[in-house]
Amino acid sequence: MAGHRRTGGQTHWEDRYDGTRPEELSWFEARPDLSLDLITERVGPDAGVIDIGGGASRLADCLLARGYVDVSVLDISTTALAKAQERMGGQAAQVAWIAADITAWTPPRRYDLWHDRAVFHFLTDAGGQRAYLAAMAEALRPGGHAIVMSFAEDGPESCSGLPVRRYAPEEMAETLADLVPGAFRPDGAGRFTHVTPTGAEQRFQYSLFRREPSG
Ligand SMILES: C[S@@+](CC[C@H](N)C(=O)[O-])C[C@H]1O[C@@H](n2cnc3c(N)ncnc32)[C@H](O)[C@@H]1O
Repeated sequence: MAGHRRTGGQTHWEDRYDGTRPEELSWFEARPDLSLDLITERVGPDAGVIDIGGGASRLADCLLARGYVDVSVLDISTTALAKAQERMGGQAAQVAWIAADITAWTPPRRYDLWHDRAVFHFLTDAGGQRAYLAAMAEALRPGGHAIVMSFAEDGPESCSGLPVRRYAPEEMAETLADLVPGAFRPDGAGRFTHVTPTGAEQRFQYSLFRREPSG
């Protein structure tokens, strides 16, 4: 894996998960209800769904429970993936696990839906953002769906000890239009509040896109 420092680097994220229960991490959610709703409203159980920076999230378990048969989870942290696999036991074999830095990843196939909760916002320079978005454009079939959740403009300025870029939904759409022109069409957006395990409120936005046939 070509590790680098754009989103903290692999070592940062291995350390973050090592020795900490996933339930204690600030981004933990017991059931990813909004993600599940957004995904199941858009694609059916046969769709290829990839969770970018899925870490130890329970999204994969929930998708399998709803009959989804083509679920992939990508993360830079092998420790996070191992924790998710351990939790899922035998069911883990039904998921494709990909240990990779998303800014250095070449998708080996096409997916119907790309889901990112709190990963893209760690990319604070245009080079990293462009590399991520190029992978997203390459990975999605024409007409495929992207769901990008990030801290909103009134959200925290950092996460996990790293600076983040915060987005209003319009800024997210502008960023895609600037960095991968013509590749994506905005398809809706919204806001939500995440409550961390210690009770802090974090304002998020989600932006939905469709992959254009060209671009
Ligand atoms: C704030 S956590 C969110 C985890 C998960 N999406 C969730 O909502 O529970 C960010 C995740 O992104 C992963 N990550 C950070 N930089 C990455 C990169 N460059 N490539 C792939 N994964 C990355 C981290 O290891 C971590 O699991």
